[in-house]
Amino acid sequence: MEKKNINIEIGKTSEIGELGKTEQSLVERAQQAAQRAYAPYSNFKVGACLLLSNGETVEGNNQENASYPCGCCAERTALHYASSRFPEAKVLTLVISAYNQDGLLQEPITPCGMCRQAILEAEMRGGQPIKIILNGEKHSFIINSAADLLPLSFDNSKL
Ligand code: THU
Repeated sequence: MEKKNINIEIGKTSEIGELGKTEQSLVERAQQAAQRAYAPYSNFKVGACLLLSNGETVEGNNQENASYPCGCCAERTALHYASSRFPEAKVLTLVISAYNQDGLLQEPITPCGMCRQAILEAEMRGGQPIKIILNGEKHSFIINSAADLLPLSFDNSKL
């Protein structure tokens, strides 16, 4: 049987200064958004900040519910708000940050599978790669495209 490998390039910063000024400000905005999350059940607060092609930035955070499955992750809160407010704009960059009870996560936050699917849809809709910055206190990961986060994905080309 033939074997195939899937390689994904991940950038790793050792300090926030390695990011550009705009990206640093998106990181700050994602961190601030995380602190406003409604997460009384998990106490895990996630923030997302999007840079759109029209120059706008949109933030989101996780919104939980006593009926747990009703909750929504930060990434999808931000993506859905961006799509409802600026339907024509492409998503250029997405930054994600998260806090647990000890504070900002040391290691980069990695998005859940459902959010990866939602980010991929936004990427395909925009027709260009979304730069994804997974922020952590010690370092951040930079991913070049949502497709890299979801190999062998299901998308609308299969429908
Ligand atoms: N959460 C996010 O907002 N984004 C992720 O990528 C992972 C998980 C939220 C969902 C829930 O409110 C809490 O974190 C714990 O899972």
